[in-house]
Amino acid sequence: IRTCCLTVVVVGASGDLAKKKTFPSLLNLYADKLLPEDTVIFGYARSQLTDDELRSRIRPFLEKSDHPKATVEAFLNICQYQGGKSYGDKDAFATLKTRIEEKELGFSKDDKKNRLFYFAIPPNVFGETALAIKDTCIQKDEVGWTRLVVEKPFGRDLESFETLNQTLSVFDEKMLYRIDHYLGKEMVQNLTVLRFSNIWFDKVLNKDNVSCIILTFKEPFGTQGRGGYFDKYGIIRDILQNHLLQVLTLLTMETPVIVEGKGSGKAIRDAKVAVLNAMSVIDLDDVLLGQYDGYTDDDTIDNKDTNTPTFAVIRLRINNPRWDGVPMILKAGKALNERKAEMRIQFKDAPAGDFLFDGQPCPRNELVMRMQPKEAIYMKTNVKSPGFSAKPTQSELEVNYNTRFFGNNETNVNPDAYTRLLLDILQGKQAAFVRDDELRRAWEIFTPVLHRIEQENVRPVVYAQGGRGPKEADDFIYRVAGYIRSED
Ligand code: BG6
Repeated sequence: IRTCCLTVVVVGASGDLAKKKTFPSLLNLYADKLLPEDTVIFGYARSQLTDDELRSRIRPFLEKSDHPKATVEAFLNICQYQGGKSYGDKDAFATLKTRIEEKELGFSKDDKKNRLFYFAIPPNVFGETALAIKDTCIQKDEVGWTRLVVEKPFGRDLESFETLNQTLSVFDEKMLYRIDHYLGKEMVQNLTVLRFSNIWFDKVLNKDNVSCIILTFKEPFGTQGRGGYFDKYGIIRDILQNHLLQVLTLLTMETPVIVEGKGSGKAIRDAKVAVLNAMSVIDLDDVLLGQYDGYTDDDTIDNKDTNTPTFAVIRLRINNPRWDGVPMILKAGKALNERKAEMRIQFKDAPAGDFLFDGQPCPRNELVMRMQPKEAIYMKTNVKSPGFSAKPTQSELEVNYNTRFFGNNETNVNPDAYTRLLLDILQGKQAAFVRDDELRRAWEIFTPVLHRIEQENVRPVVYAQGGRGPKEADDFIYRVAGYIRSED
């Protein structure tokens, strides 16, 4: 990476995403010497700022990191600013191109001169921005690469996704990196290794052994001033259709098949598409919705009678030989009692359980992979109660990442999701980014039920803030998945 020159353009440089995620992640890479020595970062937005004004705006966000002040200042020195009248302002992008070229001129013809455009902007301006960049700033292949990073929301439904995708089609799919930051989390990246590098692991993941799979996302806060955005999207589009569905595909896909010369990125994304294709479209009966009490107190929510869900449980089916009949549950909620994201695989009852142990039922095995906080993997396993008793007692076979890997001071061993994904982009690794056909299928699965919820004005169950969510959720999960709750 260090033998090339790199220009990063953060479009939407004064927005929340850029300040909270994009610039801090670039700083992490810079501090770890993972950016080329000759990197320049341009912020682009509609205000007219000087380079120093941009630096003062982002400095407070960078100072929140653990990096020494001197590193932050050195990083800020490579940040510059370019303003434009709009996001589609071709003149402004042409000026930006001249500034980029001035820097690139200092390099020999053999050095790669790469350009990365990060869209930290709302999707309604993706199209005009992409066009302006295409007309001005795309690098010739032989000189270096041009890559474009985009963030969700990738539409509100299948139709709007297609429109949005069309606007980005001025860029080749190999130039496009659609970020779903859950794909950058340690435990999610771990799934491929866990499943396919251990002989026993993947063998038990199928309908013969698994009773159901539950993926959970819980957050202890509500919309926090993001109500304007959130109310248009709701929890299903904010978390389930992307983050949780992506995790589910990695957990349930078949072994990726690498076509000679094509690389594992294509293989993994093909495997994900295959399992998405086997999922059935969600029905209204497969859904339970909730909204936390006081949701509409948020001033940024205009419609005080909104039925937008802040909590949802959805049952999915995967119709293939491995998973046929195994309920897949996606559950997510805001304003709950804790921050937690985990994958929980509940196994069927052990066949000998009822006969051997004085007719006492044995607790079910459960494999839990905790994505956050504090990554851990544990298998709930029955062992004999120590001492004179022979009764099976549930215990855990456990890998706790803090004690096993991270220790006390090695915070950098566990880079945050955005930092990992940005590094992948610089290295041209597309496996952890969402391809257009994956997204299309994801929207096909979710769009009919999203439309029905809106058209039929389905009312969510109200739940108290700071609790476990609607009490109806446990009953629903038991009814549709036979899941026997065993939280810990
Ligand atoms: C974002 C959602 O994609 O993910 C937010 O838009 C949510 O609503 C966030 O808070 C959660 O991310 P994490 O990494 O904190 O679990």
